[in-house]
Amino acid sequence: MYKFVVKGTAFSSVDPKKVNVYENYLFCISEKGSISKMIAPGETEYESIIQEYSNINKFQELTKGQYILPGFIDLHIHAPQWAQAGTALDLPLYEWLNTYTFPLEAKFADVQFAETVYANLVSNLIKNGTTTALYFATVHRESSLRLAEICSEQGQRGLVGKVVMDDLEQNPDYYRDETTALALEDTELFIQEVQELNKQTPQGVYPVVTPRFIPSCTDDALKGLGELAEKYDVHVQSHCSESDWAHSFVQERFGKNDAFALNDFGLLTEKAVMAHCGFLSDDDMALFAEKGTAVAHCPISNAYFGNAVTPIAKLLHDYQIETGLGSDISGGFSPSLFDNIRQAVMSSRMLEDGVDKDCCSEKRGVSGSSITLNEAFYLATAGGGDSLSLPIGKLAVDYAWDVQILDSKELPIFSDDEPLMDIFQKILYLSRPENIEEVWVQGRKVHDKNKTRLEGQK
Ligand code: GUN
Ligand code: FE
Repeated sequence: MYKFVVKGTAFSSVDPKKVNVYENYLFCISEKGSISKMIAPGETEYESIIQEYSNINKFQELTKGQYILPGFIDLHIHAPQWAQAGTALDLPLYEWLNTYTFPLEAKFADVQFAETVYANLVSNLIKNGTTTALYFATVHRESSLRLAEICSEQGQRGLVGKVVMDDLEQNPDYYRDETTALALEDTELFIQEVQELNKQTPQGVYPVVTPRFIPSCTDDALKGLGELAEKYDVHVQSHCSESDWAHSFVQERFGKNDAFALNDFGLLTEKAVMAHCGFLSDDDMALFAEKGTAVAHCPISNAYFGNAVTPIAKLLHDYQIETGLGSDISGGFSPSLFDNIRQAVMSSRMLEDGVDKDCCSEKRGVSGSSITLNEAFYLATAGGGDSLSLPIGKLAVDYAWDVQILDSKELPIFSDDEPLMDIFQKILYLSRPENIEEVWVQGRKVHDKNKTRLEGQK
């Protein structure tokens, strides 16, 4: 007995290069909200299941022009920075942190303020098709827990980190952990609280060990966080080799790159996700691959703070590093992974060897750098799921029913026999958030375009 059955046409990644089309399939969803069975037209049960589930009102058939995509997985986002999204992008990373971002994040000591911003962000992300997000909150344990609770209440799958910033010299007095010991105590308590909350959250909420980045943490904090990650077997997240400044700071402090320094503290684990990674060396990449650590690619943000393009094709194909896509709100201005998919493709093309062989001999760029739209879609879906070691991001048996239903009516489709893979490309390049009709997480509808109102906006 299934919870319900959906009939429709869906697109889902099989691997980074290949997207499968499931035309007019039946998706049979279990009571727990996962895909129990996928039935192709013509298979023996196809008609009888439609009959049976229509009779008991547990059958949904998509209308003409509607398509199913897996929900997006935002692999790197700063929840408090939603309050400054789209602004403050005129400074490089170090000055941006001190001028805009730390003063903003300090305000999240006020749980009420945090709640307003977080509730609005989570509903906005859901409306944009993001069914799972890996969040940085702030240093404050209580308001970080509110973020996890809001994900739980709104039905989004959330992985949330209380941020650790304990270095007295590198962080402002008005915004940091009071002491190293307190930073670690708060992190441990936060892990326990979120694990408790997870017990009553069908879609899952998970605590994440979150040193902001090496410059903001003492050696003792980094070591203690590595120990907590191991003790509780939880996810880890941080920033890694993001900008020239951050990268050279770590080189000066440890005489090595971020990857090896993080690894020394036990922070490069199978369940770790490192954001940006624009300046990884070949040795760093080999270490990521060996440890099973994932990269969160943030192509919009990298244009501002990295002034560089992360070599995604190399990470994916030369090193088989698990890689997903992050909005990096507010270093990236857009909460939409559609926008980030587009930027991922465009940025990679700027890294490509761009020389027209017929007219020029000068070498420019690196051949093999560009990624396809299929690959960028993979990053936003299946790649994110693999990075988090969760059964999400794909339409496959035993994967969660985390989907977005897109309406293609307003896209430039003028013929009834438009190839489905062309429709897929038009959806990815041209959809607006308004084209997302419904969003489902773990078999529950969390957004219906015709009913949803945004939370808490002034
Ligand atoms: N490095 C340390 N903190 C941050 C942050 O908030 N955003 C980005 N993009 N990089 C960081
Ligand atoms: Fe970031």
